[in-house]
Amino acid sequence: MEYVHYPVMRQEILEYLVPPLDREAYMVDCTCGEGGHTHLFLSTYPQLQVTGLDRDTVIQTKAIERMQEFGSRFTPRNIWFDEFFAEYEGPQLDLVLFDLGISSFHYEESERGFSFKRGELLDMRLDKDAPISALDVVNGYPEERLANVIFQFGEERYSRRIARSIVEKRKLGKITQSDELASIIYKAVPSGYRYGRIHPATRSFQAIRIEVNRELDRIEPAIKGAIDALRSGGRLAVISFHSLEDRRVKWLFKGLGEGDNPTIRILTKKPLIPTDAESSENPPSRSSKLRIIEKL
Ligand SMILES: C[S@@+](CC[C@H](N)C(=O)[O-])C[C@H]1O[C@@H](n2cnc3c(N)ncnc32)[C@H](O)[C@@H]1O
Repeated sequence: MEYVHYPVMRQEILEYLVPPLDREAYMVDCTCGEGGHTHLFLSTYPQLQVTGLDRDTVIQTKAIERMQEFGSRFTPRNIWFDEFFAEYEGPQLDLVLFDLGISSFHYEESERGFSFKRGELLDMRLDKDAPISALDVVNGYPEERLANVIFQFGEERYSRRIARSIVEKRKLGKITQSDELASIIYKAVPSGYRYGRIHPATRSFQAIRIEVNRELDRIEPAIKGAIDALRSGGRLAVISFHSLEDRRVKWLFKGLGEGDNPTIRILTKKPLIPTDAESSENPPSRSSKLRIIEKL
C-alpha cells in the first residue's frame, strides 16, 4: 500500500499562516516529508515560494516528484533543520512550519526498523550517512546509558528492566531485527503492562529513534534560528506529537514571549489540538499539538 502522509491540522495551519497576498512571499517547511503541508500552501497561494527541508533523501524524492507542478516555486534542501538555520542567508521569511517527528512513510515503507510491528533491520536513521544507527544503540550502549535513553526519550517507567533484558539477550548474539527487539521488550515488562493502551515497545522504539537522530537537541536551536530569519509580523507554527517535544516548544515560546523585551507574541495560549472529526479520520493525529507565534 502506498502511504501518503496526511497533513495534520491543515485547517488550523491555513487559518493562522497567511502570507502577504500583494507580493512574492517566502515560507520554509522545515519538515517537508512527502510534502502534504507544502502542497497545500503552494496550491493555495500562487505568489508563495516554499523551501522544503528534510534530512531523509528517500522521502524527499517523493516530495520533489509531487511538487513538480509548481516548478521553481518549490526548493528542496536535504539538510537537518537546525543546520539549515545555523547558516541561513536567504530572504526574510513570512512563514515557517515545523511538523516534528517522522512520517507514516517511515513506519510503513522505509524498511528501517522504525516499527515494532515489522521484522526489519534496526537502523532508524533519517540520514543514511549518520554515524550511529539503532543497531549501535541497542547492541553497543552500556546498560545504564541505554536505560537512560529509554527513560528520558521514551518516558518509559520500565526502562531499567528493558535495558537489562536487552543487555542479557545481546550476550547471546547481536539483536538485529525490529520484531526481535519488540519481543525482548514485551517479555521484559510486567504482564499487566503488556495489555495497556499502547504496545509495551512503543516508548522504547520512540526513545531509540530520538537518540539515533538527536531529534530533541535540534528543536530549540532551529526554532530560535527560524525566528531570527522571520520578518517582523511573520509567523511560525510547530506541530508536536509527544510531550517531550511540546514541553520544549512551550518553554521556549514562554521565554521569548514574556519579560521586558519579548521578541514574539504567542498566538495560541493553549496549544490547538485536532478536532474530533480529524482524530477519527486520522487516528495518529490524536496526540498532536499546534503552537503558533508571531514575530514582533
Ligand atoms: C511528520 S513528517 C512531516 C510530514 C509533512 N508535514 C507532510 O504533511 O507531508 C516529519 C518529516 O521531517 C523530517 N525530519 C524530522 N526531523 C528533522 C530535522 N531535524 N531536520 C530535517 N528533517 C527532519 C522527517 O524525515 C519527516 O519526513
